[in-house]
Amino acid sequence: MRMTDKEVLVEVKNLSVVFGKGKNKFTAIDDVSFQIFKGETFGIVGESGSGKTTIGRAIMRINEVTEGQILYHGKSIQGKIPKDWDREITQKIQMIFQDPMASAYDRLQSHIAD
Ligand SMILES: Nc1ncnc2c1ncn2[C@@H]1O[C@H](COP(=O)(O)OP(=O)(O)OP(=O)(O)O)[C@@H](O)[C@H]1O
Ligand SMILES: [Mg+2]
Repeated sequence: MRMTDKEVLVEVKNLSVVFGKGKNKFTAIDDVSFQIFKGETFGIVGESGSGKTTIGRAIMRINEVTEGQILYHGKSIQGKIPKDWDREITQKIQMIFQDPMASAYDRLQSHIAD
């Protein structure tokens, strides 16, 4: 199956997230775009402070989007949106917190086993 045949679940278009104002202004995310397809496991990799969590929080609507768009099933999920759409995406888009002890860091686990 070609990528273009797959259903796009989440689309991030030209996302920028700027924290602070004036001389405290800090651009954490600068023009980031990607698509997440249905059934796909999508990972964001980058050094500490590169903005992975900020992108996740923007999709979760915890961090305000300064510029760009975030779409779920082709519909905007930011800013002022209808109540029923808000309720739907709150149910559909959720955080899954990782249990660090159950994660695949077997070196740590073998240390504990020792
Ligand atoms: N609320 C905030 N106010 C100001 N700056 C922030 C805020 N949240 C994040 N930042 C800054 O934005 C940048 C990106 O941070 P972020 O936490 O998204 O990085 P990360 O890639 O998740 O890093 P790590 O791998 O350490 O988790 C960092 O420079 C961070 O200090
Ligand atoms: Mg992070």
